[in-house]
Amino acid sequence: MKNYSEQINTAVEHYRKLLENQLARVERINAAGEAVDYSKMDKIVIGVCGGDGIGPTITAETARVLEYLLADEVKKGKIEFRTIEGLTIENRVAHMKAIPDDVLAELKACDVILKGPTTTPKQGDGLPNIESANVAMRKELDLFANVRPVRVPAQGIDWTFFRENTEGSYAVGSQGSNVTDDLAIDFCVTTTEGTNRIAKLAYEYARANKKDRVSIVTKANVIKTTDGKFLNLCLEVGKDYPEIATDEWFIDIMTAKLVDEKRRRDFKVFILPNLYGDIITDEAAEFQGGVGTAGSANIGKRYAMFEAIHGSAPRMVKEGRAKYADPCSMLRAGVMLLNHIGYNAEADRLERALDICMFEEKRLSVTGRDTGATCREFADYVSETLERV
Ligand code: IPM
Ligand code: MG
Repeated sequence: MKNYSEQINTAVEHYRKLLENQLARVERINAAGEAVDYSKMDKIVIGVCGGDGIGPTITAETARVLEYLLADEVKKGKIEFRTIEGLTIENRVAHMKAIPDDVLAELKACDVILKGPTTTPKQGDGLPNIESANVAMRKELDLFANVRPVRVPAQGIDWTFFRENTEGSYAVGSQGSNVTDDLAIDFCVTTTEGTNRIAKLAYEYARANKKDRVSIVTKANVIKTTDGKFLNLCLEVGKDYPEIATDEWFIDIMTAKLVDEKRRRDFKVFILPNLYGDIITDEAAEFQGGVGTAGSANIGKRYAMFEAIHGSAPRMVKEGRAKYADPCSMLRAGVMLLNHIGYNAEADRLERALDICMFEEKRLSVTGRDTGATCREFADYVSETLERV
């Protein structure tokens, strides 16, 4: 064998830094206080951050619907909507940062954020290797739980996914190591409190919403250390909820079971490490009408961010179709935002209006092209429907 000691030393030095950073992060998680109580706040600031591609279009229309629903609260000074510019790929490339410092400071001055999709540079697209703005925001604001509901009432599907959002393969996803030209290594991270907090949130949700089953999904038969730890800790948390049945699944068979029409309606609440949660929630959203229809909540103790589960669709913009983008994913995220800050009646109204517009009446449909309604027309349809629910 050749002598690789120089390359190995460089890689080990890199690994040492990663370990130091992760241990510092563990200490921060352990020191975090209780979750904020919005009912005790004088004012809740909602940051509206358009992002890239179709993001500004679908975010603006969703903000318009939320402003309409919360108009009285804004007048009373209980709610403030605040526009945050600068989370665009051009500005991020100009600063060579996933989130430029001034934008991050503005985000941190808000309580909750409505965020449009942002473009993520990938290998080979000519953009510099900056981290995804989503992933960076989840880490910066410690948004540890990615909650993604999928419902298809006609098929009996009512699922809520609790995707761990700051660890797993994403924790140091942009800091893998090319040890030599021929050997690349990535890292996967599981921490005790990082797992406990997502598991508790999922079980508390199941208890509060009378869901009697939680499914833990990993690949612990192969990824034994990190997935094994995740699974064991979730099972341990589950013991505190004796009224809820817990089962464990491997991600491969779970992706198959989700297409099994006889079995899939039995699933209710899922807990998954980051990467499996990412993949399976796109699959799940497809049953509901596609990723364009699915919203997502990123919950932390101090901050929360609400977004679509899909990307910025640059092709739609290039082909001049941005105005035909489907706002439903962001509107669903809006429902979650309202619920999260305690405006449950408004959330129910918006959810009801969306169900009418998307599944029942369907007077307009968005197809992503000029064969369907524009984003604005659909948002108007939802606003009109709000008047009758
Ligand atoms: C999502 C997205 C992101 C993720 C991308 C854009 C980095 O796919 O929110 O699911 O992988 O988490
Ligand atoms: Mg995804």
